[in-house]
Amino acid sequence: MSTAISPTAYNYKVVRQFAIMTVVWGILGMGLGVFIASQLVWPELNFGLPWTSFGRLRPLHTNLVIFAFGGCALFATSYYVVQRTCQTRLISDSLAAFTFWGWQAVIVGAIVTLPLGYTTTKEYAELEWPLAILLAIVWVTYGLVFFGTIVKRKTKHIYVGNWFYGAFIVVTAMLHIVNHASLPVSFFKSYSAYSGATDAMIQWWYGHNAVGFFLTTGFLGMMYYFVPKQAERPIYSYRLSIVHFWALITLYIWAGPHHLHYTALPDWAQSLGMAMSIILLAPSWGGMINGMMTLSGAWHKLRTDPILRFLVVSLAFYGMSTFEGPMMAIKTVNSLSHYTDWTIGHVHAGALGWVAMISIGAIYHMIPKLFGRAQMHSTGLINTHFWLATIGTVLYIASMWVNGITQGLMWRAINDDGTLTYSFVEALQASHPGFIVRALGGAFFATGMLFMAYNVFRTVRASNPAEAEAAEQIAVVGAH
Ligand code: HEM
Ligand code: HEM
Repeated sequence: MSTAISPTAYNYKVVRQFAIMTVVWGILGMGLGVFIASQLVWPELNFGLPWTSFGRLRPLHTNLVIFAFGGCALFATSYYVVQRTCQTRLISDSLAAFTFWGWQAVIVGAIVTLPLGYTTTKEYAELEWPLAILLAIVWVTYGLVFFGTIVKRKTKHIYVGNWFYGAFIVVTAMLHIVNHASLPVSFFKSYSAYSGATDAMIQWWYGHNAVGFFLTTGFLGMMYYFVPKQAERPIYSYRLSIVHFWALITLYIWAGPHHLHYTALPDWAQSLGMAMSIILLAPSWGGMINGMMTLSGAWHKLRTDPILRFLVVSLAFYGMSTFEGPMMAIKTVNSLSHYTDWTIGHVHAGALGWVAMISIGAIYHMIPKLFGRAQMHSTGLINTHFWLATIGTVLYIASMWVNGITQGLMWRAINDDGTLTYSFVEALQASHPGFIVRALGGAFFATGMLFMAYNVFRTVRASNPAEAEAAEQIAVVGAH
């Protein structure tokens, strides 16, 4: 068989670029997370400057971890998975390159504008209109590249992972465009097209589905490819994966009002959000079980394979956060948890335990293949990273549970004469030890990312990308 490069070889360049930037943005975003967590322990770290204050850096943290780190991981893996499962090259190299550079430009725009205080004030949708428009253009191009590649696939079947990625791309475009409808009054100031309770409703329809489609559906696409691949087992039940897909995307879209319990939102909408959130437990756990059971007969691999450990533990955290979420959506539970650190703990059970861990596992799986190496430079370092990440996540979540319940109970405690038992500052003082433990947990997690960077650097330095592409090309030709 000839090894000459043919047009069927995959476009790994863009995958490599996104994969490396996942690690870079992961370190920056999580490093910033540790910094703002430390500001809550030592307020002096705000330095008395507006652009280094918690209020401005917090949205930069969320943008960096969700869109820069998580986004790059999703781009990298979706481009990798769609090419391999469709056995064809991306439809256009230049459009793919545009998505890479365009996405990085949006991130750099966020790094510049958010500390300067330019913001729409809508959570997870803070970027002002020029950046929001650039983001929309990049996203639509991403859709063209992804679906165009599916159209020209050489396989008959569309693998289920691509369904998840596809839904994530389509719904994210819809959410972003609708929620950003606004009237610009200057280059960096705009007003939302909606007002009052409608604005809040649309914002949380966006916000919740940013969780549902960006932080969940896309990563489930990742799960359906990388878990079976790393375990070297077929997915436990393909039929369940299809039911999982349709049930998940049908239900998620209705759950947004659970972010607006006890607000001016009509009562029926709140109840609907609560009911849909509780039902959502079923497909979420269906997906988790499908991933876990894929390891049937391969559990022993967990003893020696830290990459598989990352993937499986991420599923465990996914199961945990999707149990906790429906519980928190119950109005009576939410009356205790809302506004407290319990929400922050829930967020990071999903964000660190699920989103970050599955991404890290997928990147470790891909890097050697993208750079023509048999394996990562050091398996021991992956193992160290795994433990730092797991212990860090547990410290983060446990401290926030304790803080959240303490805060909720202290805020609602009243004396016989109807006055509050505790002042707000007393609740804050009670939270201080938890803030310290959370900062420590975050530092563990972020340190793990530094080990990853070193391991990736050593693997890449010893690499031969041309060989990687040639090897893939043989695989493609061989598969026909
Ligand atoms: C080293 C790791 C991390 C640390 C130390 C950290 C720390 C923090 C802190 C201190 C906050 C503000 C909490 C507050 O306002 O009380 C926060 C918010 C947030 N972080 Fe992280 N974070 C980390 C990683 C991540 C990752 C990887 C993601 C997503 C993939 C993420 C997503 C978020 C989100 C969505 C919020 C806003 C939560 C809300 O408004 O309810 N974080 N983080
Ligand atoms: C069945 C699945 C889930 C349900 C029903 C659910 C439900 C909830 C509820 C009720 C809240 C609190 C709303 C409030 O009191 O303000 C919340 C907050 C949040 N959840 Fe989940 N959750 C689920 C899964 C996840 C997963 C897997 C993640 C992944 C990272 C996640 C990320 C978040 C974030 C970022 C917030 C904070 C939003 C904010 O206030 O800024 N959730 N979720």
